[in-house]
Amino acid sequence: MRFLVTGGAGFIGSAVCRLLAANPVNRVVNLDKLTYAGNLQSLGSIERLVNYRFVRGDIADEKLVGTLLRDEKIDIVMHLAAESHVDRSIDGPGAFIETNIVGTYRLLNTAYDYWLGLDSARKNAFRFHHVSTDEVFGDLPFDSGTFTEDSAYAPSSPYSASKAASDHLVRAWHATYGLPVVLSNCSNNYGPYHFPEKLIPLVLLNALEEKSLPVYGSGENVRDWLFVEDHAKALEAIATRGRIGESYNVGGRAERRNIDVVRAICSILDRKVPRANGGSYADLIEMVSDRRGHDRRYAIDPSKIEVELGWCAEESFETGLEKTIDWFLANESWWRPLREQKYAGERLGEAVRAAI
Ligand code: NAD
Ligand code: DAU
Repeated sequence: MRFLVTGGAGFIGSAVCRLLAANPVNRVVNLDKLTYAGNLQSLGSIERLVNYRFVRGDIADEKLVGTLLRDEKIDIVMHLAAESHVDRSIDGPGAFIETNIVGTYRLLNTAYDYWLGLDSARKNAFRFHHVSTDEVFGDLPFDSGTFTEDSAYAPSSPYSASKAASDHLVRAWHATYGLPVVLSNCSNNYGPYHFPEKLIPLVLLNALEEKSLPVYGSGENVRDWLFVEDHAKALEAIATRGRIGESYNVGGRAERRNIDVVRAICSILDRKVPRANGGSYADLIEMVSDRRGHDRRYAIDPSKIEVELGWCAEESFETGLEKTIDWFLANESWWRPLREQKYAGERLGEAVRAAI
């Protein structure tokens, strides 16, 4: 199979590229604009493989994408490129509209033109896989309910609204023009190469630097955690074996309250890297003002992908978190430049916005 992976220099996209490129029968073309979140250091293990190619560019560049699709004879587009951080979408929604909505629209158009020109065997084999989020379903109560593929869309943040819009566009290109699409909506990922703006790597690196560990609101909000390499395997299964026109919810059946996630990180660090003052890293926890529009709880029912595609998460939250912390402790050369040059851990999403 010949894959075009968009956003392959990001957290999840790089895991997908590493997984696909490890199989020499695959051809993997990674198209990434290299925003603040894109990092070629995450692809060092595959950059010299003959079946892998990196191209710097924007998904909205129809000429570039059209040429890539034709020259590389792409069979499957796995579309991960996006602005992905909720707090940044509160501060500045514009980039989320441009990439997640307009960019996806342009990518769909280009893929559609390419698909129309294929012979019938390759036309039947082609897939456009849109990688999306459980946040499109919005806010669950603390004590009941899970997201299924039939849950109604009710996004709360500019980020999740932009991903909901792109999901709808992808479905429309299938219903209206017949483009063979498949979608997936996944819960919170964590693992190696995670950009340290997200809760788990932020708390981990702040702790190592003896900085405060910010927990929004009451800390009772619940997220459903999935180890990134499990997600990458799910995405490969969906892109290659998922049914056309369908969506698949992906999750690890690992709901945790944010405060418990932060405490779990602290207790692993207490064991692995004891603090000089003899205290616990948990002493650094600071309850801070809540995120605007903060969804209380996400919880994925992954039965459909488990039953239909035989995928299920291999890591528990406990084993995955331990692996993640070990990776960050062993790979300071990956994260140190990000902390020093791209994002030092300051609070995001709190700026007062006078006008959109
Ligand atoms: P990320 O922010 O780590 O990476 C995004 C990548 O997209 C970066 O490499 C960036 O350079 C690239 N990019 C951004 N705009 C681009 C453009 N216009 N053209 C080309 N490349 C561009 O994101 P992530 O956490 O790896 O998420 C990947 C995808 O998975 C996103 O679509 C996101 O919505 C979805 N998702 C993420 C999670 C999660 O927990 N992180 C969960 C479910 C779904
Ligand atoms: O559910 C899937 C989504 O998970 C993806 O679609 C997004 O791309 C990804 O960023 C992630 O979104 P969240 O907003 O859930 O992730 P984040 O790591 O930003 O926050 C996780 C929870 O922790 C959330 O309830 C907010 C809280 N939080 C976050 C930060 C950064 C804190 O309490 N303190 C913090 O400093």
